[in-house]
Amino acid sequence: MSAPSSPCQAPSYVVDRQGDFAVARPEERVEDCQHCSGTGLVAKTITDGGRSYEVVTPCARQQYKSKLQLFNAAHLPGVHATATFASFKPYGAEQDRALRIAMDFSQAWPKTRGFVLAGPVGTGKTHLLASALKFATIERGVRAAYIEISLLYATIRRGFHEGKSGGEIIGPLSQIDLLAIDELGKGRGSPFELETLDELIARRYNAGKVTLFATNYSLRPPEENRATGYATTAELKAEGKDSKLLCDRVGERVYSRLCEMCDFVEFSTATKDFRRARATSSRPSKSSP
Ligand SMILES: Nc1ncnc2c1ncn2[C@@H]1O[C@H](COP(=O)(O)OP(=O)(O)OP(=O)(O)O)[C@@H](O)[C@H]1O
Ligand SMILES: [Mg+2]
Ligand SMILES: [Zn+2]
Repeated sequence: MSAPSSPCQAPSYVVDRQGDFAVARPEERVEDCQHCSGTGLVAKTITDGGRSYEVVTPCARQQYKSKLQLFNAAHLPGVHATATFASFKPYGAEQDRALRIAMDFSQAWPKTRGFVLAGPVGTGKTHLLASALKFATIERGVRAAYIEISLLYATIRRGFHEGKSGGEIIGPLSQIDLLAIDELGKGRGSPFELETLDELIARRYNAGKVTLFATNYSLRPPEENRATGYATTAELKAEGKDSKLLCDRVGERVYSRLCEMCDFVEFSTATKDFRRARATSSRPSKSSP
């Protein structure tokens, strides 16, 4: 994908897939910039309290390059390299609302709260997370990161073998200005996984950091699901592992914080699986998968 150019320092970029990740690069090199003679720096005069100062700042092309580096550092999945708000086609009121919330979120940065997108497979949840992170990094210069929750657990487990503590890996994710956590609720629901998630969310909540989520689990609050409103510990343990409810999957402590940190959108089970629809429409045969 190529972004539009403006006449002077011409910020434009191409983004494509490199291995697992989406990678953006500027179309114009800073070295060829006529504005700064390739140094990346320009002098600027600022006035403060009636006095003028000459300061050196990055030129527009250098600033843009730095924003693209933020995009690359976010480690978005390569399959979503070209995802944007413009390429998301909402089907129905919930997807309409999801798109609006994600766009409003991006426009309102930094005065904003996160969102949780819940819904069936192939309904564009990761597409919207990727679009929001692309906008935040490239248009707003926000430090951001994307993680799939099960990959995070795997990375921490691998770190243990290399002598690293879980905190060493969670630390930077707790601090980053914007974090998108995909596949929330996925996993075995082991004490290790629940404690890791609890620590990450609690640290971000306490630090007032904005977090976005996508999940295949339902958002209905637990009291709607439990006739008596009470469940024994054994029942809760069994529920947590098998439940289709996000609250059961992540635990009350995490869910409670999500309620305060985020707007919630849930796609109905009737929402179409884009992957299947695409595969069906590009296949000449009569049968569907
Ligand atoms: N409403 C939509 N408009 C345009 N493209 C869409 C839409 N929904 C999904 N897609 C495309 O379909 C593919 C699957 O979408 P995506 O990976 O975002 O789904 P998902 O909801 O995250 O699924 P899963 O729950 O399996 O992770 C992507 O290529 C995405 O760009
Ligand atoms: Mg997804
Ligand atoms: Zn320059």
